[in-house]
Amino acid sequence: MSESYSHLPPLIIKGKKITLPIVQGGMGIGVSLSPLAGAVAKEGGVGIISSAALDRLVSKQKGKKVSSYEAAFEEVSLAKASGGFAGINIMVALVRDYEASVKGSLDAGADFIISGAGLPLGLPAIQPPKDTALIPIISSARALELICKKWERFGYRPDAVVLEGPLAGGHLGFKAEQIDLESNKLENLLPPVLDAAIKYGDIPVIVAGGIYTHADIVRFLQMGASGVQMGTRFLATEESTASEEYKRAVIAAKEEDIVIAIDPGSPCGLPFRVIKQSAAYVSAMKKLRAPKCDKGYVLLKDDEGKFTRCLAKSSNEHHFCICNGLLSSAGYNRDKEEPLFTVGTTACKINKILPVKDLIDELSGRVPIES
Ligand SMILES: Cc1cc2nc3c(=O)[nH]c(=O)nc-3n(C[C@H](O)[C@H](O)[C@H](O)COP(=O)(O)O)c2cc1C
Ligand code: SF4
Repeated sequence: MSESYSHLPPLIIKGKKITLPIVQGGMGIGVSLSPLAGAVAKEGGVGIISSAALDRLVSKQKGKKVSSYEAAFEEVSLAKASGGFAGINIMVALVRDYEASVKGSLDAGADFIISGAGLPLGLPAIQPPKDTALIPIISSARALELICKKWERFGYRPDAVVLEGPLAGGHLGFKAEQIDLESNKLENLLPPVLDAAIKYGDIPVIVAGGIYTHADIVRFLQMGASGVQMGTRFLATEESTASEEYKRAVIAAKEEDIVIAIDPGSPCGLPFRVIKQSAAYVSAMKKLRAPKCDKGYVLLKDDEGKFTRCLAKSSNEHHFCICNGLLSSAGYNRDKEEPLFTVGTTACKINKILPVKDLIDELSGRVPIES
């Protein structure tokens, strides 16, 4: 592991002292797996796997069927084996596999479970977390208060919180019409969240969404954040397991190419940022794909308690099939399904794929930033 980074202070969460206050955000499907998370952990940041469709991805690697529990256990163990701190991102919206993913990660000794795309209100009740830090993702002080109040009933307090603003990649915790509001800029969301975090017991706040340079990191630390979470920059690394086609699309993307998909949009019901040339998005706009539900990761329970409901299941008129689009962008089923590329707004600044070590050197301030 890298020894010292004089420019940035460490991040301390649940007694774990992380050399750099940089968390690599979980990126599903199949973008942040153990090769990326392990590399980031080794360089002194926090490496985070994404639990989305992990059973399928690990089953493919191993050539035998593994469960969501086993897949989470396996990938967390591999990421931790590189040394340093590693954990997993488990989306609340992936209801069917949520508990199994949490249990597998806890049993593997994940340093962190980061959970958003919905409020993780029941997370501490699933299983005693022991040394694992439980970290919700929120977009407002109100959401943090709600979670703290609910978790108090379990005798637990968030070990840290990720405040994700509207410039992030993936799903956004804002209504479409709120995305561009001045009041929702990350800089403006942070002060009330810091107040709530202090009120509930000095909870470290990690900010995410649109952070690109060492100077950005310094600026948010000076505003009171304890760390940053970054996704898009780590998507564009050698170690990320996005397909080569995906990485080329990131490099080619211009500002006007990065749009918010709403209608057609994600069946999870949240605004979702994409590169507008992604083949699956182009087809969705032209209503070309015939609906087919063969993966089922975002299914919700029906009245009988069975996982049968998804907004993209019987019609692709207003919702695209996110399971298949994202699996295709990790190269899983490219011959059968078109890829859907999600990115944050900063993708338009990226012009080269870096090894994680070079990126961390740049972000940590050890190496001058290229203009
Ligand atoms: C390709 C991609 C996939 C993502 N997948 C997830 C995910 O599965 N779960 C989640 O909570 N956040 C996800 N995110 C959000 C990131 O974890 C991170 O918070 C966000 O990208 C930060 O914004 P930035 O991209 O501007 O750095 C994803 C982001 C990207 C770019
Ligand atoms: S319709 Fe598509 S997005 Fe919805 S659960 Fe089925 S496979 Fe997933």
